[in-house]
Amino acid sequence: MGKILVTGGCGYIGSHTIVDLLTNGYDVISVDNNSRSNPVILKGAEVITGKKIKNYKVDLCNYDDTFAIFQENEDISGIIHFAAFKAVGESVATPLLYFENNLSSLVNLLKCVQEFHIPHFVFSSSCTVYGNPDIIPVTETTLPKPAESPYGYTKQMGEQIIVEFARSSATNCILLRYFNPAGAHPSGIIGEMPLGKPQNLVPAITQTGIGRLPKMMVFGTDYPTRDGSCVRDYIHVSDIADAHTLSLKYLEEGMNMGRCEVFNLGTGEGITVLEAIHAFEKVSGVKLNYELGPRRPGDVVAIYANNDKARSILGWKPKYSLEDIMATAWNWELRLKADETVFNSQAGELN
Ligand code: UD1
Repeated sequence: MGKILVTGGCGYIGSHTIVDLLTNGYDVISVDNNSRSNPVILKGAEVITGKKIKNYKVDLCNYDDTFAIFQENEDISGIIHFAAFKAVGESVATPLLYFENNLSSLVNLLKCVQEFHIPHFVFSSSCTVYGNPDIIPVTETTLPKPAESPYGYTKQMGEQIIVEFARSSATNCILLRYFNPAGAHPSGIIGEMPLGKPQNLVPAITQTGIGRLPKMMVFGTDYPTRDGSCVRDYIHVSDIADAHTLSLKYLEEGMNMGRCEVFNLGTGEGITVLEAIHAFEKVSGVKLNYELGPRRPGDVVAIYANNDKARSILGWKPKYSLEDIMATAWNWELRLKADETVFNSQAGELN
């Protein structure tokens, strides 16, 4: 087994995937410029796995610096590309920042993949590529609608760039479309570290539960759903991580049926915002201070996955329930509260 380069290794899904890869015997290096991530998270990954993890503090938008990583690591056999900006609202306010960062980093990386003949490439995509779907659950063949944000367009374009790249190169690629990743590693040692006020639902819930936020808002209660709030498919981050390891193994075993394959990663179950809140209240015993508010611009009404393809082809099966997601996210929030230095530090030691 060669070495796996994980981009965005200090991020939420990247760090959980590094743990999964190391646990499965892979040798891993990370590249992360830490512009939106905290390097301390890798110390946590080291504690869990008992292995040292090297991070290159490099911006993938800088081609020469990116190239140098490949020169130094001639045995890279696969890449998992997470590094990207992901705040939907911010992408609406600063679209060029998103197009430049998310797409030029991808192109630079693929140029290196070509130059160094890297055989396997896995891309972090998103259910956002489906836009506001007419029929749910969505399958991988559901035709994408216009994206709801520049962030969504960077994922649609990113997929297209990889499809075209795969057609013209010897590299085999996989596009993984995540639904709503949430929860934290069951050890409580690593989890999500949102910068500033969290935009995503589960960190908003746990930060309100702990009192870091005074209250939270349910964005919209007049949607045509069973309780009026939006429906999403919350999938545990460790289940997402597991799918990356399985994707690499699948490519390494030469099982792929095309140069670029796509898989949905969701549980297949649609959950409303209010149901998610009630699941949190049940597992934590905390009464959440929330208000019913107006719709958030750009939100799709309802989306959840048909995950048959990942189950049958990758042999993937989500192991964690919604309650597990809430319990592990809450456990992590309690840990951050107990150790404020972890939350505030940019480079501190994880005790
Ligand atoms: C969206 C994308 C997802 C992408 C993610 C990146 C879609 C369908 N999903 O996730 O692919 O990876 O952005 O950030 O495009 N909510 C509240 N109160 C809050 C926060 C959220 O009610 O304080 C609600 C939202 O209105 C939404 C649900 O919770 O209905 C989930 O929101 P969020 O966690 O932000 O994820 P998405 O917007 O679904």
